[in-house]
Amino acid sequence: MKSIVILISGRGSNMEALLAANLPCRIAAVISNKADAKGLETARARGIPTAVVAHAAHASRDVFDTALAAEIDRHQPDLIVLAGFMRILGEAFVRRYQGRMLNIHPSLLPAFPGLHTHRRAIEAGCRIHGCTVHFVTPALDNGPVVIQAAVPVFADDNEETLAARVLVQEHIAYPQAVRWFVEGRLTLAADQRVLLSGERKGAGALLAPAPDASSQ
Ligand code: GAR
Repeated sequence: MKSIVILISGRGSNMEALLAANLPCRIAAVISNKADAKGLETARARGIPTAVVAHAAHASRDVFDTALAAEIDRHQPDLIVLAGFMRILGEAFVRRYQGRMLNIHPSLLPAFPGLHTHRRAIEAGCRIHGCTVHFVTPALDNGPVVIQAAVPVFADDNEETLAARVLVQEHIAYPQAVRWFVEGRLTLAADQRVLLSGERKGAGALLAPAPDASSQ
């Protein structure tokens, strides 16, 4: 059975969704860069080993990355799962785990990398927004896409209502992506293409606003 390490920085709701999904893998540890991350309590309550590698306690990004890699490597995971891990990781760190590190980002990448994605989607007038699970590459919030979920943006949405609608989909998309990986169905090819065996072709399209019934 494969094992995974989950990295968090805060609330940990994606981590909880992963724990609740009964994935066919061992969750070796949950590691946070912040000692007060709420998700750490949740993991501890479930009997999962936790660790803190505080970025603030390290002199530079490189020193932090090295300490984080050492903590991860103690567990020899097959996959590193970034679940709301809000530190930019250096190129050497990312290359070390190339093809075995996933991230979830709250936008339909390549739109809106970085912060405040929901606000920016509203300001840009997007009718459709969503989330993306991708393999991590050195570019921030970028890399080969594994799965995306789209939601409509309504005229009366604000940042909070839109974030909540996306988060529901994050909690579906991320466990699915991790499941594919630990089942051995998801790999990143040398040419950076995502390979997913047994891929199902969903036929449904999301139109937002919904077209008039007469035009369907
Ligand atoms: C999630 O919405 C996740 O997509 C986002 O942080 C939130 C963490 O929530 N990640 C990023 O913005 C990464 N660039 P959670 O701690 O409840 O899972």
